[in-house]
Amino acid sequence: MKIAHISDIHFFVPTFKISHLFTNEWLGNLNVYYSRRNFFITENLDAFISSLLKEKIDVLVITGDFTSTANGKEFALAKQFIQKVLDSGIKVFGLPGNHDMYTKKSVKHRTFYHCLDNLPPFSHGHVHFETLTDSWNIILLDTTMHNKIGRANGHFTLDHEKTLRHLLEKSSNVIVANHFPLEDKSKSHHLIRDKHLHHLLKDSKKRVLYLHGHTHNTSYHQETDQFHVFNSSESTVTEKFHYHLIDLTKDHFSHKVVKYYE
Ligand SMILES: [Fe+2]
Repeated sequence: MKIAHISDIHFFVPTFKISHLFTNEWLGNLNVYYSRRNFFITENLDAFISSLLKEKIDVLVITGDFTSTANGKEFALAKQFIQKVLDSGIKVFGLPGNHDMYTKKSVKHRTFYHCLDNLPPFSHGHVHFETLTDSWNIILLDTTMHNKIGRANGHFTLDHEKTLRHLLEKSSNVIVANHFPLEDKSKSHHLIRDKHLHHLLKDSKKRVLYLHGHTHNTSYHQETDQFHVFNSSESTVTEKFHYHLIDLTKDHFSHKVVKYYE
């Protein structure tokens, strides 16, 4: 089974309203206006879908930050994109990032889940479990929280930990997808209790592929024989345009980076 991993698409439709002054939305729109609009080229997503088909991808995993300020128009673009991939015959898994829970309103109304109702609904509250093959499962974590202006933290709670510990028991090989990295020294952007998640996965004795975004770069590293970390968070950044392709075999996997637009 072939998996493609991308993250941090950041669809954006700026809205400037007086009532947004000095709120997260105001900051997010300024951010988009002055920098992100030069970075994120969503038009190339058609080339991305062609590449998925050429590589015979079965499953696409998107680890959050579909939007920039969690407004309805941005979610509508994200939903359209997901639908295009689904219509190409590719299964899509997605979870929210901090930008998809950017405002108090979007957290309260769970806008991500209401708007992106063409993604599989979460099976265990803030955790989703699904079987991929006879030997591989996937677990998605929603570790988003409401943030004050200027912050972009996530939180791996005790509830997440309890559910994840139980679900890991069902798996010998598992993909664990979450928006946040396991090691981020920035106090304002890191995952709260990241060390607990890191130790749980690393010490689980399972083969774990940890997929994340958030940091706007691309990397792969192997921590142990069993524990591998993929970051695909510059998948749609200008002149980068690539994704991680992970080919799952019975008890192993191979991987490569695919460039989808020259
Ligand atoms: Fe993020």
